[in-house]
This record gives sequence, structure tokens and C-alpha cells, in this order.
Amino acid sequence: MTTSHFYAEALKTGRPILAVAPMIDWTDRHCRYFHRQISRNALLYTEMVVADAIIHGPRERLLSFDQAEHPVALQLGGSDPDKLTKAVEIAAPYGYDEINLNVGCPSDRVQSGTFGACLMLTPDVVARCVRAMKAVSDVPVTVKCRIGVDEQEPEQALPDLLDRVLHAGADAIWIHARKAWLKGLSPKENREIPPLDYDIVYRTKQARPDVFIGINGGIQTLDQAAEHLKHVDGVMIGRAAYQNAGVLGDVDHRFFGAADTEADWDGLRDRMMTYAARHIDNGGRLQQVARHMVGLFTGLPGARRYRQILSTEAVKAGAGPEVIAAAFAAVDFSGMAAEAVGA
Ligand SMILES: Cc1cc2nc3c(=O)[nH]c(=O)nc-3n(C[C@H](O)[C@H](O)[C@H](O)COP(=O)(O)O)c2cc1C
Repeated sequence: MTTSHFYAEALKTGRPILAVAPMIDWTDRHCRYFHRQISRNALLYTEMVVADAIIHGPRERLLSFDQAEHPVALQLGGSDPDKLTKAVEIAAPYGYDEINLNVGCPSDRVQSGTFGACLMLTPDVVARCVRAMKAVSDVPVTVKCRIGVDEQEPEQALPDLLDRVLHAGADAIWIHARKAWLKGLSPKENREIPPLDYDIVYRTKQARPDVFIGINGGIQTLDQAAEHLKHVDGVMIGRAAYQNAGVLGDVDHRFFGAADTEADWDGLRDRMMTYAARHIDNGGRLQQVARHMVGLFTGLPGARRYRQILSTEAVKAGAGPEVIAAAFAAVDFSGMAAEAVGA
């Protein structure tokens, strides 16, 4: 339904998209709120939410998010066009900026529902899903896939999938630049063992200059992101952004023209304390917010103590936002590059 959207805009202007990858159990709403305090411009993905869960499960809990999180993309898991249609319709009023279909997750649980990475084997099904989602979505519909699975030949499997989903109307493609093995490797091993092949993603972009192609897999730093952006339109960072969110600190200045301001640690601390207090007032626990923050200062003097305070004190019954203040107070910021975390 959409004719103009931020992916088309990115292609037209050459402005990249920097995304934090969808990660089950990690990129929940509290994590996204935290990341948003560090970068205003990074595109944030939800965890994968299964279409059936949206249709039959606790919608509000699965879909609601803080308006401060924008831009935020909802990743769906599913392989039934009717269910995905329904899920997109239910999600629409929540105001996500994008709907993404998971064609990359290899866990057994996901395979038994025949979606995720095993969909690489049935590109027609993916195309039908995308067409159905597009028909009811006002926001971009995108696909996140692997370069192939099992014995597939990526040089054939990837273009074949892309031809079909693009024909069905997909607005952008994010490619995790390695295969997934559907049997024999755990999801974790499937993020580490199959070798990364960035070149095939670059060639995919060369062959389709008019299509937004984003790359994912093994990207640790913004220097590496900048290198990839010489070849593709977007970079998606997963584990490195979660395990050390400071990596996101320079995104706005480096890729979006924001001023090179000093890191505002007090501001970050205060905003997270306010957010945590509100969450606790609404019946939540500090730990649900604090667990995403433990990697923030990796490598700085005091980071161990910071991590320790957040992971031991925040889990205690009745723990309040003052635990966040105590953790920040343990860090020695004096040696840190000023731009490492923006506000
Ligand atoms: C804990 C965890 C959960 C993940 N969950 C999802 C998911 O829900 N959907 C998805 O498409 N990929 C998922 N992934 C894969 C990431 O999105 C990403 O493709 C992968 O980690 C490679 O990127 P990285 O090397 O930058 O981490 C997950 C990864 C991790 C570590």
C-alpha cells in the first residue's frame, strides 16, 4: 500500500539505516527504550513475535511500546499468509514503523512451526506471506533472511528468494550473511559456525541497485559498519549492540549528521531512573529494565562493579531506581572518549 517510506528515502538520499537486530529475550521494550537513549536514529527491532501469539495471546503485552522508541520495527514469525495478515492488522494501531518477516531464525521451536530460516526452502511461501502483509500494511514490509540453509547454493537460493519477495512487494531486505544449518547446530552455533560471506551480500546489492539491501552478521564496531556501507544501504548490529550498547553512542554523529556532543552520563542515568520508576509503579520489576544495561561500560574502570551492582542489587525484592544511580557512581568516566555515548 505504501509508495513512499523511509527505505525509499534512504535509497534516494544515500542516507544509511543503522539497525539494532531483532533478538528474542533481549530486544524487548525496555532494551529498546535504553538503546533509544543512546541513539536517536538507530532503527530498533522487536524480538520476533509469532503471528499466532498476536492473534490468540496477550496482545497488549506483546505489542505495546513506549512512543520514545520510534523508529521501531515489529518482527513477525509465521508462514501462513492469513495469520500474518491478521497479525499485521492487529498490530497496525500500535504504530510500528515497519513490519519485518523472519526468514532467518533456525531454532527447532521455530522450525516445528515451519517458519524462520526453513522458509529459505520455500521462497514461494515467503512471497505469498509478503504479498498478504503488504496488502494490509501502511508501513514498509521487509524480510530478514540468511544467504541459504543446509545444502542450498547461496548463489541460487538468495537471488531466487529475493526475486520472489521483491516481486511480491517487499520494501527492503536484511541479510544475515551466513547460512543456517537446520539440523545439528543450535541457534547459538548457527550464529557462529557457518562462515560469514559478506561478498555475496555486496554482489546482491550490485545486481539490484534500486533495492534497499542491509547487511547483518558479525559486525562489531562503527568503523566496520562504515566499511560495509560502501557496498550496501544499511547495517544491522545484533550482539555487539546488546553486549556493549556504548557501540551505539556515536551512531547519530557519525551517520546522521548530529553534533559531536559530549557524553551525557548524568542525563542517561536520570532518564533510565525515571523510566524504571515508572515501570515499577506500573507493577514491573527493576531487574526487567536493569538487565539490559549491564554491558554498557565494558572495558572502563569500574565497569565490573557497575555490572555487579546491576546484576545483584537490581534483582532483590523491592529494588528501586536508586540501584541504577549506585551502579553509575561506580564507573570512572575520566578515561572515556567523550563521544562514546551520546544523549
Ligand atoms: C539472543 C538472540 C536472539 C535472537 N533472536 C532473533 C529473532 O528473534 N529474530 C531474528 O531474525 N534474529 C534473531 N537473532 C539473530 C540476530 O538478529 C542476528 O541476525 C545475529 O545475531 C547476527 O548478528 P550479530 O552478529 O550482529 O549478532 C537473535 C540473536 C541472538 C543473539
